Amino acid sequence: MPYKRLTLSHNLLEEQRRLGRSGTFTSLMTDIITACKMVSREVNRGALVGNLGLAGAENVQGEEQKKLDVLANDIFLHMNSLGGNYAAMASEELEDVFAVTGQASGRYLLLFDPLDGSSNIDINVSVGSIFSILRLPEGANPNDADTFLQPGTQQVAAGYALYGPSTMLVLTTGDGVHGYTLDRGVGMFFLTHPDMTIPADTKEFAVNASRQRFWEPPVKRYVDECLAGKEGPRGVNFNMRWVASMVAEVHRILVRGGVFLYPMDSENAKSGGKLRLMYEANPMAFIVEQAGGLASTGKGRIMEMKPKGLHQRVPVILGSKNEVERIVDYHKG
Ligand code: AHG
Ligand code: MN
Ligand code: MN
Repeated sequence: MPYKRLTLSHNLLEEQRRLGRSGTFTSLMTDIITACKMVSREVNRGALVGNLGLAGAENVQGEEQKKLDVLANDIFLHMNSLGGNYAAMASEELEDVFAVTGQASGRYLLLFDPLDGSSNIDINVSVGSIFSILRLPEGANPNDADTFLQPGTQQVAAGYALYGPSTMLVLTTGDGVHGYTLDRGVGMFFLTHPDMTIPADTKEFAVNASRQRFWEPPVKRYVDECLAGKEGPRGVNFNMRWVASMVAEVHRILVRGGVFLYPMDSENAKSGGKLRLMYEANPMAFIVEQAGGLASTGKGRIMEMKPKGLHQRVPVILGSKNEVERIVDYHKG
């Protein structure tokens, strides 16, 4: 009987009671969950309702927006404005802070990548949404971008929704990582993956190998050693995956281990890397560390970086603990 499982809403209520919380956190999570369900529906309906293809505009990062990037962004902004829980929001798709008007009481800040992996939309491969929740510091102006520039260690919660063969929501509030699967008929997320943990060792890596000619020596050395397999210094055969959707890569790593690299290279060095610190790297780093893995730039812990801008880019190396430690060691050489 599948419905004997715990639902996400009940799990949040149980946590609220256990920690003596006011209910604000449960309410703000409910809004995010609803937003993810709506985005899931739009991703799923795809071409049937004209949701695929380009929107015809560029975002702040100079990337072409897909229709679903814009739609998912609008859904997130709207749904998370309703409850009065957020003082302000920031999104990959918006240059500046989004001020939440008419709901003056919000004590939290929401950062999100409304649709991650958007190059996969038109080919019907997994995409996702990523979010990070911070507190509004006492006396701070929520509409000032500097208010958002808190290190990842300050996150209250982080999560992602994966729109794959199943829609899943994976969440941490700093007490482990739990995964929920959406039952579309009921419209609810059920707990299917309690206490997700990343094995410390792995034989699987993920990197965009078309960038090999730009890599720095530590990354080149690591990948070369993996590729050398049984006959090489590692003495085992490695497997490789690249979905080009960070949500899908992190999810695979949470389920069966692995290491993911989007490193700094000679071509992206001027921007600091490819992935964005505030709404991609930090929330994923929080989840990965809560599941027993590590998340590093190669030179330091991602969550300890002092952010310099809402759309700052950083190198990302995350996943199975022993592999990330090895890559960090190679950077010391
Ligand atoms: P987004 O679709 O939000 O812009 O993010 C895409 C990111 C990330 O999900 C993925 O790991 C990476 O970009 C893919 O980059 P390549 O196209 O260089 O493989
Ligand atoms: Mn993204
Ligand atoms: Mn995106």
